[in-house]
Amino acid sequence: MPKPRVLVTREIPAAGLDKVLAHCDAEVIRDPLPPSRATLLEKVRGCDGLLSLLTERIDAEVMDAAGPQLKVVSNFAVGFNNIDIAEATRRGIKVGNTPGVLTDATADIAFALLIAAARRIVESVDYARAKKWKTWEPLGHIGADLQNKTIGIVGMGRIGYAMAKRCRGGWDMNVLYYGRSRNEEAERNLGARLVDFETLLAESDFISVHTVMNDSTKHLFNADAFRKMKRSAIFINTARGGIVDESDLTAALRNGDIFAAGLDVTDPEPPAFDNPLLHLPNCVVAPHIGSATVSSRNGMAEIAADNLLAGLAGQPLRHCVNP
Ligand code: GLV
Repeated sequence: MPKPRVLVTREIPAAGLDKVLAHCDAEVIRDPLPPSRATLLEKVRGCDGLLSLLTERIDAEVMDAAGPQLKVVSNFAVGFNNIDIAEATRRGIKVGNTPGVLTDATADIAFALLIAAARRIVESVDYARAKKWKTWEPLGHIGADLQNKTIGIVGMGRIGYAMAKRCRGGWDMNVLYYGRSRNEEAERNLGARLVDFETLLAESDFISVHTVMNDSTKHLFNADAFRKMKRSAIFINTARGGIVDESDLTAALRNGDIFAAGLDVTDPEPPAFDNPLLHLPNCVVAPHIGSATVSSRNGMAEIAADNLLAGLAGQPLRHCVNP
């Protein structure tokens, strides 16, 4: 029997890629940059399965270009806002994602961004590198305390919980959270309190975003939200850039409406090099590295391969996002 045809839109770790290569007639796009839309549409033609990254928009046009034999789209990410899930579901195409294996790595980046923004680490390192360090400065580089403050988590899922646990365990923070679902484990273990959005904005010293990006969360953080936050607040986003109105965030950081921000995601990615968020001293921007550890990326590759192979075989996916 011929092997199923699949397209892998970028080189992923061998932990998953080797499985795909062993079982499929696979084309792997090995360019370091994402394929152009035209390349994606051309190469997906005739494929039974697609292993995609969050950089590819997988919509009806891509599904049409693939053809009616397309059975599965396996996303090498926990997020899946790049895929039209309703359209895939309507066509009977299974969609997989890679949760669980990147929880701690992503929470670590949120935690690191919070410390970096609070203690002005990037700004201070830049200062030393620019030969401005002349002496120990009693009034210089003063940042924010973390101990006993209040962390506000938007989206208390796996990663939100892991971030809250770090804040509670490390700094005895009070934990507030806002989101669609109640998390009783967070309430029991971390003393977390579910509040409405306005309360979260008003009472949190730090806000960390871990929610999905969809129509109801797009630009949830806008001028109105930043105005309602404390002027000492620090805003952390390791979820999706589109949850934030970036020009409103820029204004809030410039006007001192909030103290600082730490971002691992932007909209678009990468941001234009002249985007002020990359250059403001009170904003730390990392290039979407939340899951960039050996075990997370290997784990993601394995799950993405398993999802792909299960979908091709008509079996349930390890992690399926179709409703
Ligand atoms: C990364 O952002 C992911 O969704 O896995």
